[in-house]
Amino acid sequence: MKILIIGGSGGIGAALLEQFIVSDIKATLYATYRSTQPQIQHDNLVWFKADIASDSDVKKLSESITNLDILINAAGGLSLASKTPEKSVKEFDTEFFQHNLNANTIPTLLLGKYFSSHLKAKHTTYFVSLSARIGSIEDNKIGGWISYRCSKAALNMAIKTISIEWKFRQPNCCVIAFHPGTTDTALSKPFQKNVPPHKLFTATYVAQCLLELLDKLTSNDTGKFYSFDGKAIPW
Ligand SMILES: NC(=O)c1ccc[n+]([C@@H]2O[C@H](COP(=O)([O-])OP(=O)(O)OC[C@H]3O[C@@H](n4cnc5c(N)ncnc54)[C@H](OP(=O)(O)O)[C@@H]3O)[C@@H](O)[C@H]2O)c1
Repeated sequence: MKILIIGGSGGIGAALLEQFIVSDIKATLYATYRSTQPQIQHDNLVWFKADIASDSDVKKLSESITNLDILINAAGGLSLASKTPEKSVKEFDTEFFQHNLNANTIPTLLLGKYFSSHLKAKHTTYFVSLSARIGSIEDNKIGGWISYRCSKAALNMAIKTISIEWKFRQPNCCVIAFHPGTTDTALSKPFQKNVPPHKLFTATYVAQCLLELLDKLTSNDTGKFYSFDGKAIPW
């Protein structure tokens, strides 16, 4: 089995790598980081440096790997040092919006573009992107965080669209978006104050939830948005 984790340097990405390493799955693991190579080392783990919002970096990465069974995009972004998510549309800023698109939307489109032929096995393969419930249009009851919301809603549309296209071109591939719940990582750190302890998950727990979910899913489940608890979220 061959597994690629995009954003292996992130909180959830690193936990996914650790879970695959300790699991019974005999796999070659590939993982990406953007700046500093993480400490996680294993005989079966190969690290690649890549800016996953860069067309040329994703193309080069796709040329370094042949076939894959599972591709998980665990990269993403929310705040900048200079700006936190908007409380009102009056705070909208094009640069911040572009930052969110680069972190949350463009990577999955590039991965779909360059990795479709890697996921064409005769058995079930998986193309997964970490999204967020906040990107569900139907579920949006409180507003706010407009750039992050829009970038995850666009990611969800990308996942749905890729799933429809691949149903015909590579019917064994299960294409899904995954909501991890509020997880204790660098991304959520500044916003954890009002989160009750039982609703703040460890990255390890979330990684286990995703592995358990993938174990149950087949290509018949393609084109859905799943929560950490295995339930489908409306798009
Ligand atoms: N944590 C939560 O509560 C929560 C809730 C809902 C959804 N999510 C989603 O879950 C995913 C993982 O988040 P996390 O909590 O693990 O966050 P994290 O610890 O901040 O990790 C995010 C990772 O994405 C990488 N990244 C961002 N843009 C990149 C780019 N252009 N090229 C390469 N790598 C890039 C970062 O690399 P650098 O470190 O090099 O920047 C980092 O490794 C994200 O999509 C996030 O939106 C998280």
